[in-house]
Amino acid sequence: MKRFASADFQSAMKLKIDYNNMMSSALLPKGFTEEELSAVPLARAIEGVNNKRGAMQWRELPHNQAEIVKAILAEAERIRRDAEYFVVLGIGGSALGPIAVHQALSHLRYNELKKELRPGPKLYVLDNIDPESMRALLDVIEVEKTVFNVITKSGSTSETMSQLLIAVDILKKTFGEDIRSHIVVTTDKEKGNLVKIARKEGLTSFIVPDGVGGRFSELCPVGLLPAAVCGIDIEELLAGAAYMDTLTAECTNLQNPAGLLAALQYVSMQKGLNIHVLMPYADSLKYISDWYAQLWAESLGKKVRTDGTTIHAGQTPVKALGVTDQHSQVQLYTEGPFDKVVTFIGVDHFRAETPIPEGYPDIPDVHFLSGHSHNELIAAEQKATTYALTKSGHVNYTITLPEVNPFTIGELLYLFEVATAITGELLAIDAFNQPGVEEGKNATYALLGKPGFDAKRAELAAAPAPLSKFIL
Ligand code: PA5
Repeated sequence: MKRFASADFQSAMKLKIDYNNMMSSALLPKGFTEEELSAVPLARAIEGVNNKRGAMQWRELPHNQAEIVKAILAEAERIRRDAEYFVVLGIGGSALGPIAVHQALSHLRYNELKKELRPGPKLYVLDNIDPESMRALLDVIEVEKTVFNVITKSGSTSETMSQLLIAVDILKKTFGEDIRSHIVVTTDKEKGNLVKIARKEGLTSFIVPDGVGGRFSELCPVGLLPAAVCGIDIEELLAGAAYMDTLTAECTNLQNPAGLLAALQYVSMQKGLNIHVLMPYADSLKYISDWYAQLWAESLGKKVRTDGTTIHAGQTPVKALGVTDQHSQVQLYTEGPFDKVVTFIGVDHFRAETPIPEGYPDIPDVHFLSGHSHNELIAAEQKATTYALTKSGHVNYTITLPEVNPFTIGELLYLFEVATAITGELLAIDAFNQPGVEEGKNATYALLGKPGFDAKRAELAAAPAPLSKFIL
C-alpha cells in the first residue's frame, strides 16, 4: 500500500491512548489498580484470537485486496463519470461503515458542495425502511443519473431486498430491461438471493469475502466502493489498517493497543460499569460512534459462552459528541451513577482553523474569547470535561488522532475491530454471531409470509395476546 513503506509517516500518524484517568490516583482514588489490569488474562486472549485468524478473514483485508482495489477504483471512476447520485441500499454493517467513513473523510457538507468542487456524485445511504425516507429520496434524486449500490452480505435481508425491488421497478420503468449501468451489488459470492438477481440482471458485483461479518466489513468492498466513489483514498485507509495490524498482531501485553482497550473494558465490565460512552470531539467522527455501537453491542451482547453456559454478557454502547453533548449528557456522566466508562476521541490537528475575531472589548465575558480559535476552544473544552469527569470519580480514557485522514481512520477502525475480538475472547463468547438479530429477522419473514417460516408463524400466533388493561 502506498504510504506503508515509510516508517516516519507511520509514527507521525500513530494514535495515542492515554488511560491515566482509568487508573487510581490522588484525583481518582477509585480508579483501577495496575494489579487489576495485569490480572486480565490478556496474553491468553490475544493468542486465542490469533489462533483463529484463519477464520477471521476481516483481519487480512488490509493485505489481500490489491486486485480488488484496482477493480473498485475502475468502477468508482465509471460511476463518477456517469452518475450524479450514488445511493447505498443496506442496513447494519452494510451501511454504518460507509456512513462513518464518508463523514470522517469527505467534506462535511459534501452533498451541498457545487458539482465542480465535489469529487464524486452526491451520496445517500438509505439504511431504514421508513416509507417517508424512501419517498424523500426519490424526490431529490434523478433516477436516470443514479447508481444504486445494493449491499447485503447475506443477500436476504428483508429491508435491503425490499429497497432493491423498489429501485429495480423504477429503473425498469425508466430504462426497460437493461439496468446494468444503474445497479452495482456487494454480496456473498454464492449465498443468498442477491447473487442470483445479480446474475439474472448481469449486474457488476463485488464480493463480501467469507469470514468477514457485516460489522467487520467496512474495509472490504462494502465500504471501499462508496468511499472510492466519493474520492476517498482507499489505499491509505487500508494502509492505516495494515499498520494497526502490525501493532496489534503479535504483542500479547498491555503494549498492544487493542489488547489495552480490551483489558480496560473487560475490567470495567467486571466492576459493573455496564455502559460504554464513545465521545469524539470532532464532527467528522460523529458517525464513528454509530459504527462502533453496532460493533460493540452486536459482538459482545451474548447470552451464552462458547461452552454453552449462560453469561448475558455485554456493555451498552452510548453515542455522544463533544462538545455538543456537554450541553446534554455530560451532567449525567459527571454526577450520575457509577455505571459507565467514557472514551473520548480527540484530534490534534483539525483540517481547518477558525480564528475567533476581536470584538466587544467592553464586555469582558465575551471578549476573553477574542484572539483564540475554535481549535483552541474545542481542545480546552475536551480537557476541561475530561478533568471534571475524573474529579467526580468517573473513569475515562482518551484516544487521540494526530489528524483525521484516511490512514488514521483505517487505524482506528481496525483498532476497534481487534479490540472487540480480544474482548470477546476474554468473555469466552462468540463475538462473530448475532442470534438475537436473526430471531427478529426470522419473525419478520414469518409475519410477511416468506416460504419456509410456517413454524415461526405458528409460534408468533401462539404468543399471549396483549391485555387491554395494560393499554391506555
Ligand atoms: O453484523 C452483522 O452481521 C449484521 O448486523 C448485518 O450487518 C446486518 O444484519 C445486515 O445484514 P446483511 O449485510 O446480510 O444485509
